[in-house]
Amino acid sequence: MRPSMRQRTFLLAFTLLCTFLGLGSPLSCEVCKSAGHTCSGKMKTCEAGKDACMILVGESSTKGHKSVNTLKACMKFSDCYSGFVSTTMGPDDYMVSNAHCCQSDGCNRGSVVPPQNNRTKNGLTCPSCIVPFQETCPKTEVASCVGKETHCIYFAGSVQAGIINAKFATRGCATQSACHTKVGAEVPSPSYLYFLRRADCLPASHPPGRAK
Ligand SMILES: *[C@@H]1O[C@H](CO)[C@@H](O)[C@H](O)[C@H]1NC(C)=O
Repeated sequence: MRPSMRQRTFLLAFTLLCTFLGLGSPLSCEVCKSAGHTCSGKMKTCEAGKDACMILVGESSTKGHKSVNTLKACMKFSDCYSGFVSTTMGPDDYMVSNAHCCQSDGCNRGSVVPPQNNRTKNGLTCPSCIVPFQETCPKTEVASCVGKETHCIYFAGSVQAGIINAKFATRGCATQSACHTKVGAEVPSPSYLYFLRRADCLPASHPPGRAK
């Protein structure tokens, strides 16, 4: 029995819709996280809506405790930023990262160049704070921006570490590339998954009473 014109039209429309929504071929990406400048793991099929593979290498300092980690995962392409991001909350609390986002099967295999970690102060400052378990952060401290950090961020939302989900809020200096992060974004890092409900990003200023 040959399909009728109507059936064929329906099939064509359905195929186009699937292609348009990306339902036809789910993406698969390499998935891993570990200490060091790269990691390797199994290929996994991405869940619906995650249309990009990413690889991120991050160097961070938490209260002076330094670590280098790599994450490879599936994520939403619109939440994914390819390039360098630097954020500084204080002299001993910062994170620099370099990431690559791509949209073909297994494209996040391999590695990216580790981020440059330029800690030279550039004269700009931002209000800073880190508050776990709360979604607001008072302007109690001032961070000195370093390297290419020209913006002040105020990010808040919830953070997931394993099965634990907690609120968080943070302010500090950042590169302009951090402004790419928007409210509603799901942002992975090697240790946590952040859900942003606040993502303010403004140009940083020189401290009052100083020339320029
Ligand atoms: C590091 O940052 C400072 C301050 O922005 C800048 O003057 C210097 O050129 C940077 N160094 C490198 C190697 O990029």
